[in-house]
Amino acid sequence: KKRRLMVAGNWKMNKSPNEARMFAGFLASSIGNENAVDVVVFPTSLSVAGVADILKDTSIKFGVQNIYPADSGAFTGEISASMLSDLAVEYVLVGHSERRHIFGETCELTGEKIKSVLKHGLTPIFCVGETLEEREAGRMKEVLETQIRKGFSGLGKSDLERIIIAYEPVWAIGTGVVASPEQADEAMKFIRDLIASLYGVDLSESVRILYGGSIKPENFESLISMENIDGGLVGGASLQESFVQLVAIAE
Ligand code: G3H
Repeated sequence: KKRRLMVAGNWKMNKSPNEARMFAGFLASSIGNENAVDVVVFPTSLSVAGVADILKDTSIKFGVQNIYPADSGAFTGEISASMLSDLAVEYVLVGHSERRHIFGETCELTGEKIKSVLKHGLTPIFCVGETLEEREAGRMKEVLETQIRKGFSGLGKSDLERIIIAYEPVWAIGTGVVASPEQADEAMKFIRDLIASLYGVDLSESVRILYGGSIKPENFESLISMENIDGGLVGGASLQESFVQLVAIAE
């Protein structure tokens, strides 16, 4: 593989703080410290301090699922990227389809969030993906292009060097309907070519693009064997022992 693989687990709104600590402890004891791949988990904001405590001396990294793009202030219910340095958080998910579709997050807001994450020295994992309706209407590429152009608006090459992209077709998230390796690779090749036209071929070759949507141990190997797929952003299968199997498959 040209690029280092990443296996990221998005726990979404699952696990209480105690459950999260216990599961982090299980991961710490099950995943070796000399990993050939990057392993990252995304607990809830409520659990991230506890998880940080358990994982701080391991090779497993952690992040949060969302931030608000201001450093502090009257934004009830939100957390900021600037607060995360206390906890050695390294990654932030931005633009997950559940944020876009359930919470009405716009492309413009995802762009603000990426800037705030970068400003605080953290790594954004920027999620894009089309709905089934958009795919069936032949609009997949247009949707991905809009999400990327707006999300990355105002960013330069040195910013892009610090960003990871996740392609998550909305129809594959939590549905058990995984994209075929060819479908995923096709969309991700389109994203890579778009990055080449916006930021140059070197960057398009080095940027990591993860696939997300109904990843399981049974389908992961065939996905990561594709040229443009640099790992996975895993939801459901990251909540249990299957996450350890996914890491082993990637290693
Ligand atoms: O962030 C993860 C994705 O939304 C995938 O979720 O693996 O449960 O389909 P899933």
